[in-house]
Amino acid sequence: MSHKPDLFEPLTLKSVTLPNRVVISPMCQYSAEEGLANDWHFAHLAQFALGGAGAVILEATAVAPEGRITHGDLGLWNDAQIVPLRRIADFLASHGSVPAIQIGHAGRKGSAQRPWRGNLSLTGADAAYGDRPWQTVSASPVPVSQDWHVPSELTEEQLEVLCTAFSETTRRALAAGFQMVELHAAHGYLLHQFLSPLSNFRTDRFGGSLENRMRFPIAVGRAMRDAWPSERPLLARISCVDGMDGGWTIEDSLVFARALKEVGFDLIDCSSGGIAGAATAARLPRELGFQVEMAEAIRNGADMPTMAVGLIIDPQMAEAIIRDGKADLVAIGREALHNPFWPRHAAQALTEGRRDYTDWPDQYGWWLSRREAVLEKIGRG
Ligand SMILES: Cc1cc2nc3c(=O)[nH]c(=O)nc-3n(C[C@H](O)[C@H](O)[C@H](O)COP(=O)(O)O)c2cc1C
Repeated sequence: MSHKPDLFEPLTLKSVTLPNRVVISPMCQYSAEEGLANDWHFAHLAQFALGGAGAVILEATAVAPEGRITHGDLGLWNDAQIVPLRRIADFLASHGSVPAIQIGHAGRKGSAQRPWRGNLSLTGADAAYGDRPWQTVSASPVPVSQDWHVPSELTEEQLEVLCTAFSETTRRALAAGFQMVELHAAHGYLLHQFLSPLSNFRTDRFGGSLENRMRFPIAVGRAMRDAWPSERPLLARISCVDGMDGGWTIEDSLVFARALKEVGFDLIDCSSGGIAGAATAARLPRELGFQVEMAEAIRNGADMPTMAVGLIIDPQMAEAIIRDGKADLVAIGREALHNPFWPRHAAQALTEGRRDYTDWPDQYGWWLSRREAVLEKIGRG
């Protein structure tokens, strides 16, 4: 390939330009205390900016303490939590990645064990190491499954308080230096619990018809839009399908995406599943790029930019997704844990000729370009 790969063309959303189309997908580290980011988060996220990502989206960050999945989740429900996030956002931006943060509320999937502690609901036994169970909330008082906590049904008053929490968290994200905020409306967490007929059994104006089930998530979206500068982009991650009988469908997603567009959202991050089972439970059969067609369906059907995610590991596949207009951005999650420099390696893989290190941080690139010459000489270039 002689021309610049499409994957490495910039993308402008409102006033923000991503230098390329590779985004690091939000990934909970379950490693915060009282919602505060620490050195783990800094090191984990910083490497992705060094690795050349166009944007880095910080993990699901709770708008309220009870909105966490686990005690280790990041939070942005108070001003003290802005400080360590600011350091991370500033570093990302200073190394060329657009800093972004996902905000959300776990609803009935909260009060959970960290994955490596069991990945189920917290019990009294978890309190022994400090992770006490808490009362969860949801659209309806129905648990994820039999052995999960029974959430309490949110009242209209509580929904208003939550809208304010989303709005205040959005303002704090601005103060922390983020250039994009992503609303987490996927994976069976609170907003998805309102959207899906498999978890919302309300008989008031927040349940029943699709329009009613969308009412609270849309109100949250509006609250965020009002709190966020009009020239900065807002993203929403949705589960495009529940993948279960009687569940949320791609047609529902099109209606929701159009409604979010109307509110002033700029891009839909297209994931799927999660309405039943643990945070990490899979519903759809897994194959490379298994959710790309959903990103394409939303992009065409809602006339809105999308991000594709899910087992995208080959540079050629990522390039084809952008080149063929299936999505505007690709997100990588676990592949970035495997290789934080995936974007830079992808750029090399998609470009003919000697491996080029000129765009790399000087601290690495200067050495590696010289090593490349040596490798060539010994036939290993
Ligand atoms: C450790 C880990 C934590 C995750 N945390 C989040 C999260 O905070 N928010 C979210 O929307 N998705 C989360 N996900 C899902 C990823 O963002 C991504 O959508 C998923 O892993 C599929 O992409 P991949 O195949 O490139 O990993 C997480 C995934 C992993 C592996």
